[in-house]
Amino acid sequence: MAREPLVDGHGRRIGDLRVSVTDRCNFRCQYCMPAEGLPWLERSEVLTFEEIERLVALLSSMGVRDVRLTGGEPLVRRDLPRLVGMLRPLVDDLSVTTNGFLLERDAEALVRAGVTRWNVSVDSLQRDRFFELTRRDALGRVLAGLEHLATFPEAHPIKINAVGLRGFTEDEVLPFAAFAREHPYEVRFIEFMPLDADHAWDLDKVLTGEEIRAAVHEHFPLEAEPREPHSTARTYRFADGRGRIGFINPVSEPFCGDCNRIRLTADGRLRTCLFSLNETDLRAPLRAGASDAELEKTIRDAVWRKELKHRVNDPGFVQPARTMSAIGG
Ligand code: 5AD
Ligand code: SF4
Repeated sequence: MAREPLVDGHGRRIGDLRVSVTDRCNFRCQYCMPAEGLPWLERSEVLTFEEIERLVALLSSMGVRDVRLTGGEPLVRRDLPRLVGMLRPLVDDLSVTTNGFLLERDAEALVRAGVTRWNVSVDSLQRDRFFELTRRDALGRVLAGLEHLATFPEAHPIKINAVGLRGFTEDEVLPFAAFAREHPYEVRFIEFMPLDADHAWDLDKVLTGEEIRAAVHEHFPLEAEPREPHSTARTYRFADGRGRIGFINPVSEPFCGDCNRIRLTADGRLRTCLFSLNETDLRAPLRAGASDAELEKTIRDAVWRKELKHRVNDPGFVQPARTMSAIGG
């Protein structure tokens, strides 16, 4: 059954949903989690696959065509390929954001189940620095998982995300640019956002996309590609035709104006912005037996109030209580 499109109060049509399937993670990235981890949700608090399917089906009937599965680390959720199979018929695009640690185990089943796009997070190409940042000595395993993923033609194009941290990422920029030229991966730098558990974020710690782009361009000339609507990344081709690189600049160049995304947390809260200070509980009505029409109304009311833009650069900005791992990238 087709329903009216889902629109917010600023006229933006919502077409993209990020679903966090678990708040748990096997890494402890410094810009996301504390070393000791976070108090995880109880199993009963986490949406079941059937609950996720119901919400995605409803949102799909309102025009949500892209769904991205995230976490925490989505691959730590048992039997993720089953969820992929359940959601596949409901949407056009079904993507996964992963830290890559379990890709050797799961890539094949996930590709076969119908994942259409992949984002793998890699913040350093040096073993010791990767360990320092993620607090896991796992670079070799992640790169092996990536290579395994790349053997499946249906998995391409594969994107690699690296967070840009001042005082850390500068030394990674040229190695990543070379990596993007030598492998069939698009490397994308993403600016550090105030979504870290340690509240250590500071504007001075953001290595901006423009700084990175300029440094790459000096060694490997770049040519801008046209910006696609709703896209978070500005992408560039290497001028000699070998590979692509992208920049996600939410802090220095916010792209809220045509944001078409909403998020569902692992415990069933709808968030209309990464930086939302309030969220809408969908799990309680779902478990109380709400009808589709009732859920639809709750969702439309929440989406209508979607934030015009984030206030990261404003004085008095308040960081949300949830970290990226509990929201879903
Ligand atoms: N700022 C920017 N990106 C972040 N990620 C996690 N925390 C932050 C943050 N504070 C990224 C991860 C992953 C994606 C889900 O979000 O590196 O690529
Ligand atoms: Fe885990 Fe991703 Fe957070 Fe790193 S950024 S700790 S991989 S959820």
